[in-house]
Amino acid sequence: MEGKLSRAAKKIVPSSIQGFSHLAQRCNAINLAEGFPDFPAPPHIKNAAISAINSDFNQYRNVQGVCDYLAKMMKERHGLDIDPLTDVAICCGQSEAFAAAILATIDPGDEVILFDPSYESYEACVAMAGGVPIHVPLDPPQWTLDSSKLLGSFTERTKVVVLNSPHNPTGKVFTKGELEVIAGECCSRNCLAITDEVYEHITYDNLKHISLVSFPGMQERTVITSSLSKSFSVTGWRIGWAVAPTFLASAIKNIHVRLTDSAPAPFQEAALNALRSPPEYFESLRSDYQSRRDYIVNLLGGVGFKIEFIPQGSFFLFAELPDNCPLSDVEFVKKLILEAGVVAVPGRGFFHTNLSSDEVSNLPYSYQKRYIRFAFCKSDATLTLAAEKLGKLLDAKGHLVLY
Ligand SMILES: Cc1ncc(COP(=O)(O)O)c(C=O)c1O
Repeated sequence: MEGKLSRAAKKIVPSSIQGFSHLAQRCNAINLAEGFPDFPAPPHIKNAAISAINSDFNQYRNVQGVCDYLAKMMKERHGLDIDPLTDVAICCGQSEAFAAAILATIDPGDEVILFDPSYESYEACVAMAGGVPIHVPLDPPQWTLDSSKLLGSFTERTKVVVLNSPHNPTGKVFTKGELEVIAGECCSRNCLAITDEVYEHITYDNLKHISLVSFPGMQERTVITSSLSKSFSVTGWRIGWAVAPTFLASAIKNIHVRLTDSAPAPFQEAALNALRSPPEYFESLRSDYQSRRDYIVNLLGGVGFKIEFIPQGSFFLFAELPDNCPLSDVEFVKKLILEAGVVAVPGRGFFHTNLSSDEVSNLPYSYQKRYIRFAFCKSDATLTLAAEKLGKLLDAKGHLVLY
């Protein structure tokens, strides 16, 4: 009966994160793998959710106030004029907003440009729509965008460019120059852009998030997707949104209604409260994460990882294995779980480079097999415990020995 599965279902395999979670659970490993915080959400938004439940917001719902507030934010942050009645779709997280945006734009055979490495879900959504992902590599160690590689990837069939900045897994924040190139190509090729801005409030060293939509000619062709998940430490609440020109937003809303009808009603009410948080909230989010970033960079750099790129945003460190480490990323993570009791994510799951995974496995020392992603959206206690566990496996030079 397995033959009855759709082509899309056969293409979508468990993520590399899920692959290790059994082993990690069995070993009770400290979780630096998954991109969700293990500390409490802010009390003001929890109280708003409790109050919404007590007020019996129990039915299908679209909280127009959230759309109104997002439109106001878009004006303040990106200078956009958004009609909150027609141009905003509240969805179940960025994940649903993104999937709906892809379903709203991609026909079988349409090409979608994805930067490589990238968050794993994009390719799966493109596959579900029958689209063709075209991967444009970002060049290590700084994950620079080579404009000639981008320009060479456009064809007659290119429909959409997907941009995630701040970036998972590298922590890169695309530069203004890089964004100009992407925007320029989208306009001259008459393509759409779908942005993933879930880490928009998490940037470091005074870097400011710039949305692709703010470049000339982009508002009419861009779907912005984002969510509460990372900015408010509530990945399980499932509140996100798409902001787009009316024709796109209305297609996304129609798809959203058929897929899930509406996002969780009490959490939409709480979202309004969250979005209205004072500037100090966002400041302390940034500075807390910056301290955690510094801690993990020092910790992992100190035990021998090669860290040539310090995260500029998001809450991941994409650390390279030491030159003398003979293990691949997958072998290393297995040993990290079994010997150190810490779990992280092998980097190869984020790379595609238009190669099959068998082809990547056969490249002996390709950089795609040399990176490990560590999530530092964790409490001080978790990070300290991870440091203690790694500290038990150091050689005389203070380097981690797992091989
Ligand atoms: C880049 C990126 N986009 C989207 C998501 C998921 O967002 P949401 O919880 O809003 O669906 C994640 C979660 O890890 C992510 O890293």
